[in-house]
Amino acid sequence: MLIAGNWKMYKGPAETAEFCVELKRREADFEGIEVAVCPPFTSLAVAVQVLAGTDIAVAAQNVHWEDEGAFTGEVSAPMLRELGVYGAIVGHSERRQLFGETDEHVAKRARAALDAGLSVIACVGETEAEREAGETEDVLRRQVSVLEAEDNLVVAYEPVWAIGTGKTATPDMAQEAHAFIKSLVDVPVPVLYGGSVKAENAAELLSQPDVDGALVGGASLDVESFAAICLSATRS
Ligand code: PGA
Repeated sequence: MLIAGNWKMYKGPAETAEFCVELKRREADFEGIEVAVCPPFTSLAVAVQVLAGTDIAVAAQNVHWEDEGAFTGEVSAPMLRELGVYGAIVGHSERRQLFGETDEHVAKRARAALDAGLSVIACVGETEAEREAGETEDVLRRQVSVLEAEDNLVVAYEPVWAIGTGKTATPDMAQEAHAFIKSLVDVPVPVLYGGSVKAENAAELLSQPDVDGALVGGASLDVESFAAICLSATRS
């Protein structure tokens, strides 16, 4: 069970340090699960520093496929490794929708990150229009087919209509999508659920047999609510 907090474009280094000090203080409560935070690039170093010596992992929100080069605004896997970062999210729907990322970009980012020794949380999920048109499985098949499953790959099922909207997939909907995603890959891959996860609905979602954790956005920004979700996970 992995609970990862995707902070998006929130928390500079000072707020990150404060959050991580408090999270570290509570680490003993998170026995038996994995916990990760994904701060913005400029806050990664301080998160790694504060959480050093704990089992709480620090991951980036994106990663480029080349090691270096003329790619203004991008950050590479070796650069993240040098900082002591453990993994990266790739293919978040905000990257796909707002920054034009394609399945091909996502595949390249995931491949390079895995090759460099980072863990990867690869996000997939259908939009509301796609779900209504009965295309959910086609979209998931297309997005998952570009990923090469291996030990350090985690998939996050994040229905786009549930992100930041307060609408969550029902536990049954999540279970169905997770089982479908797992049926698409040859080797077992953990699948996290993401989309309006909060302390109040975490236990029910996490109790589904194919829900292996959560990727939490809004509710991961407050240490109290993030810790409450982590606690639910220890009981699932
Ligand atoms: P949310 O975001 O929990 O705020 O819906 C989830 C995500 O975008 O990863």
